Amino acid sequence: MAQQDIRVAVLGLGRLGMFHASNMMNKVKGAELTLICDPIVEHAERAADQLGVPAWTADPEEVFENPDIDAVVIVTPTSTHADMIKQAAAHGKQIFVEKPLTSTIEEADEVIEAVKKADVICQVGFMRRYDPGYFDAKQRIDAGEIGKPIYFKGFTRDSGSPPASFIKNSGGIFLDCSIHDYDIARYLMSSEISSVSGHGRILMNPFMEEYNDVDQAITYLEFENGGAGDVEASRNSPYGHDIRAEIIGTEGAIFVGSLRNSDVTVQSSTGSNHEIVPNFQMRFREAYVQELEQFIKCVKGEESPRVTSVDSKINMQVALAATRSYMNNGERINMQELYQDKVYVL
Ligand SMILES: NC(=O)c1ccc[n+]([C@@H]2O[C@H](COP(=O)([O-])OP(=O)(O)OC[C@H]3O[C@@H](n4cnc5c(N)ncnc54)[C@H](O)[C@@H]3O)[C@@H](O)[C@H]2O)c1
Repeated sequence: MAQQDIRVAVLGLGRLGMFHASNMMNKVKGAELTLICDPIVEHAERAADQLGVPAWTADPEEVFENPDIDAVVIVTPTSTHADMIKQAAAHGKQIFVEKPLTSTIEEADEVIEAVKKADVICQVGFMRRYDPGYFDAKQRIDAGEIGKPIYFKGFTRDSGSPPASFIKNSGGIFLDCSIHDYDIARYLMSSEISSVSGHGRILMNPFMEEYNDVDQAITYLEFENGGAGDVEASRNSPYGHDIRAEIIGTEGAIFVGSLRNSDVTVQSSTGSNHEIVPNFQMRFREAYVQELEQFIKCVKGEESPRVTSVDSKINMQVALAATRSYMNNGERINMQELYQDKVYVL
């Protein structure tokens, strides 16, 4: 290990945690993954074995109390984030946490206070800001290539629903899924969202009714700069993981994303074919590495996070307003009226 390598622990070794741990172990420069943690012993043991991580534990406290850990990557269920962040901060660990920051605004306020008091970084996993396509769009919009951005259209279509055990702790489709689009919409439009209206329905996954969730949703957005937009979220995309965006400007438009998993197209007498992106791990493979690389640079004091805990609270405010709107038959919700002086604290 080079002297300056940051010693990292990953907490939560499920769908995304395994991927982050693997990236930390094999791809992220300047980091050394020394410990992993999951209360399900088989998850922890299997991950340590597969990835060659030197140590594992089933007890998160052992991570927080370990003086040899500089930074933690929290990839546990959303309902546990607040507690995990507060504990990590109290022990002086630098923090990367998956989105959404927490489940409630009260929890978000508590963790923002905790990381401020501990003077540690809290970077949040809105990886689209690190995706080469979305990032290129941002540079071009800021350079004025499409004039003033006036409309954002984004959609996130998952190839299937996560299991009930995940949905139960996810906070619902607006907080779990559409929040990625709210974040990138604010980033690309360079404007805050001023009002939302949310709608949704269960189309393919009846089990969601038990959790007051839906598998198909749409949010209509208005922005403070006079622009508008719409965001679709779906768990019903049998053809693949379909994530795209269109930003319409006064002098042009930018389209981001495609269904292509690689540059290869196969032509035959039956047609023209290419592989479709199968899941989020493949769609954002580069972004997941880049966001962790930036986190390590931030821990070393070389850069600042592109997405902070305060920024992530604003994304939550949009998502929770959309959830509330959906529960009130699509009522249009004005963000300033709902949150009053607690909104837009960036
Ligand atoms: N940025 C993205 O694209 C993206 C994609 C998927 C998931 N996520 C987020 O990542 C988080 C995890 O999602 P997932 O799909 O990997 O969930 P998952 O259910 O597949 O895995 C969660 C893991 O955390 C473990 N766990 C539970 N409590 C724990 C604790 N106290 N300490 C350590 N481990 C604990 C579970 O045993 C499980 O192995 C969620 O917050 C989710 O919103 C983000």
